Amino acid sequence: MKVNHAEIVISAVSKKQYPEDHLPEIALAGRSNVGKSSFINRLINRKNLARTSSKPGKTQTLNFYRINESFYFVDVPGYGYAKVSKKEREKWGRMMEEYFQTRDTLKAVVLVTDLRHDPTQDDIQMYDFIKYYDLPVIIIGTKLDKITKNKRKKHINRSKQVLDIDETDIFIPFSAEIGEGKDEAWSALSQYLRG
Ligand code: GTP
Ligand code: MG
Repeated sequence: MKVNHAEIVISAVSKKQYPEDHLPEIALAGRSNVGKSSFINRLINRKNLARTSSKPGKTQTLNFYRINESFYFVDVPGYGYAKVSKKEREKWGRMMEEYFQTRDTLKAVVLVTDLRHDPTQDDIQMYDFIKYYDLPVIIIGTKLDKITKNKRKKHINRSKQVLDIDETDIFIPFSAEIGEGKDEAWSALSQYLRG
């Protein structure tokens, strides 16, 4: 997809702030610091529209990015960061549930996992959560650039196996750093953005 236009519309913490123009939405999900915001930036060719950081916990709100005036990427705060208080974790849970439960315009979820490591318990829970809401999921195994070429296949198979993904689900090895997997990600997403 050729992206001509990308803008942040709102950083929302609750439902009443969500955009109301009824465009289709693709939400991100994944651990803190895994590369969700970097995924968005790479897909839309913008260095830092979605703010990234080497420290976990950068994204704290539901950030709605309108792309080509035709759909939204919704960047979300990550999970699994040990230093987060119980109260904050609960707040995260409520915010995510409210969004996933009620959002009619949500068409698919991009679950980003770190291809270097086995998916965590939190990743497995998130995958199950998405399935529970009956949402299509695209799994992005990111930071591919950090794995030597001869080990890539093994890591990809491990990730699929640990997550126990459905055979019909799409898994894409990806790197925000070098752009690998970008075209595959767009073609997987495009089927959810039509009409
Ligand atoms: P939170 O907003 O804290 O949940 O994090 P996030 O998932 O949005 O991660 P973010 O995109 O901010 O990236 C975290 C760090 O990982 C940054 O230092 C990025 O530069 C780095 N990073 C992201 N994707 C890749 C990748 O594909 N390869 C490499 N080498 N680094 C990456
Ligand atoms: Mg982020």
